[in-house]
Amino acid sequence: MARHPALIAFEGIDGSGKSSVLRGLLERLRARGGDPLTLREPGGTPLGERVRGLLLDAELRRAPAAELLLFQAARAELVAEVIRPALAAGRTVISDRFCDSTRAYQGSGLGLPRETVEAAIHAATDGLEPGLVILLDVTPELGLNRSDSRGRRDAIEERAEAFLGRVREGYLELARENPEHWLVFDGARPLEELIDEVAALVVERLG
Ligand code: TYD
Repeated sequence: MARHPALIAFEGIDGSGKSSVLRGLLERLRARGGDPLTLREPGGTPLGERVRGLLLDAELRRAPAAELLLFQAARAELVAEVIRPALAAGRTVISDRFCDSTRAYQGSGLGLPRETVEAAIHAATDGLEPGLVILLDVTPELGLNRSDSRGRRDAIEERAEAFLGRVREGYLELARENPEHWLVFDGARPLEELIDEVAALVVERLG
């Protein structure tokens, strides 16, 4: 496993607020003259956006292993074509989700065996891992309420609260296992407060 200090991932269950915090962080980094590359998973490349369409289509049935591998297909393309070249050019890369989404959703959520999940992730990333993971932790109830009020639940969000509870526990376990690389925030806190705190910590980590 190779953790890259300039690769930062935002993680959290659906409705955790990570996209809003990420937007606020970017504004702050840009105001300081930073020029990070930002991405979202699944997606971020022509192939990845098409795979994203398959993954978020509520009508389409997918076996768990098929879902695992589709996420990795999108990720493999993104890592090879976008993330590695940007890191090699010295840019900071901030991704809305990365490989820990797979560990939490397909591993803890769907219950696929850990070795299977790790092997699939490794095939996609060749061991590249974020130097910093920012986890916005919310209860499934709060996450689902926020998704509902936005009026959009995709295929993955349709799953029961119990599923998101397992995903959340998976994330918290990963954070406990990797304390030097994970920062956990209470996603129920006011947005501006969260953005200020996350931005300060990211600026400190990036030096
Ligand atoms: P998206 O609309 O991007 O949701 P969010 O705004 O919450 O990030 O949908 C991505 C969905 O895909 C989300 O439910 C999490 C799920 N997902 C996985 O199950 N495994 C993965 O490896 C990734 C990257 C995402």
